[in-house]
Amino acid sequence: MHSVMITGGAGFIGQNLVHAWRVARPTDRLIVVDAMTYAANVRSLEPLIADRSILFVKGDINDAALMRSLFEEYKFTRVAHLAAESHVDRSIADPEAFLQTNVFGTFTLLRTALDAWRSTGTLDRARFLHVSTDEVYGSLGSADPAFSESSPYRPNSPYAASKAASDHMVRAFVATYDMPALITNCSNNYGPYQHPEKLIPLMLVHALDGKSLPVYGDGSNIRDWLHVSDHCDALLTVIERGRTGETYNIGGRKERTNRDVVELICDTLDRTFAAEPALASRFPGCPAAAGASCRSLITYVTDRPGHDHRYAIDASKLARETGQRCSVDFTAGLGRTIRWYLDNEAWWREVTSGAYKAWIDKNYGLRIAV
Ligand code: NAD
Ligand code: TYD
Repeated sequence: MHSVMITGGAGFIGQNLVHAWRVARPTDRLIVVDAMTYAANVRSLEPLIADRSILFVKGDINDAALMRSLFEEYKFTRVAHLAAESHVDRSIADPEAFLQTNVFGTFTLLRTALDAWRSTGTLDRARFLHVSTDEVYGSLGSADPAFSESSPYRPNSPYAASKAASDHMVRAFVATYDMPALITNCSNNYGPYQHPEKLIPLMLVHALDGKSLPVYGDGSNIRDWLHVSDHCDALLTVIERGRTGETYNIGGRKERTNRDVVELICDTLDRTFAAEPALASRFPGCPAAAGASCRSLITYVTDRPGHDHRYAIDASKLARETGQRCSVDFTAGLGRTIRWYLDNEAWWREVTSGAYKAWIDKNYGLRIAV
């Protein structure tokens, strides 16, 4: 049995990981630590908090005193570190918070964990999993081989640079202090509870409300889509079976252009509305409610500055060393995700109220159709 700290557990991947962990390792004690930024939501965790199967602490990983007291109180033997500022466009608009949380926050957590594990003599039994991104490797050309764990770091956005810096700090703690840490670098996740600032849920909720679908540039950029359940399974495997000091890439090998993804969302919605007439009265603004295609909403807009062309992950090391492979088919996974958003309108209405509207105005107000 482990005492586990999950940082960022109220975020998209964090919530999915908490649920997956609860099922896979029922005897572990889970303490979720999250600052509850705009990206957080605890609705899905409320039943677990209520029946005390997890403990929730609202707190900032930059708060060294709080982190120390949590380590003293709960004697963590596992840390799954997911807390981060995670959206590239926000990092372009305002990079400072990315340095604060992703770099300094990670450093504070590393130092607190190291001090605690040294003072209790448990360094050899503890594990610190640092969850990072493929964006640290930069951008691939269309014919380049996928990123491997030995690809050079070439971050292009303030977000990617801040995650790269945090990866380097983890690596330095391993080399210098024998920190029992592991790093995972994964590709773009999708699935339930993703904030509608990211591509797939943004396009989905815009289409349901009949708003334009803003594709950056010509839509030819490629992402390697990983279903969040495959990602969480891989994280659970790496933290127990990975070798400390090592990096593991996690990816779905599901490369798609943004144009293809957005068109697939549109076509799936068109078909679903045709098969379920009741949806038309719930989402009267959606073109599919009137028998038209959601594709009519697609608008190509000013590109993201420094927009990485392609990400692709070679996850063969993970498979070779642990047997873990990602298995969710992209079309099926996207279909399930669309169904989840159709069935959980209250969740995304709540998430997209208030401050979200101000972000949409800020990020998209100045983008012109191209
Ligand atoms: P998210 O933005 O949905 O959630 C991040 C969570 O961290 C939020 O709940 C937020 O409140 C919390 N947080 C932010 N600052 C904090 C602070 N200072 N102290 C404590 N909590 C804080 O992000 P996500 O998509 O769930 O990503 C989780 C991790 O996975 C991140 O480290 C991200 O870099 C990485 N990652 C995500 C993706 C993806 O496609 N979503 C891909 C690769 C890597
Ligand atoms: P995003 O979900 O922000 O993830 P990341 O930038 O970390 O890959 O974006 C995925 C891709 O979709 C990326 O190439 C940018 C593009 N995109 C759009 O074309 N329009 C949008 O409104 C958003 C949010 C993203």
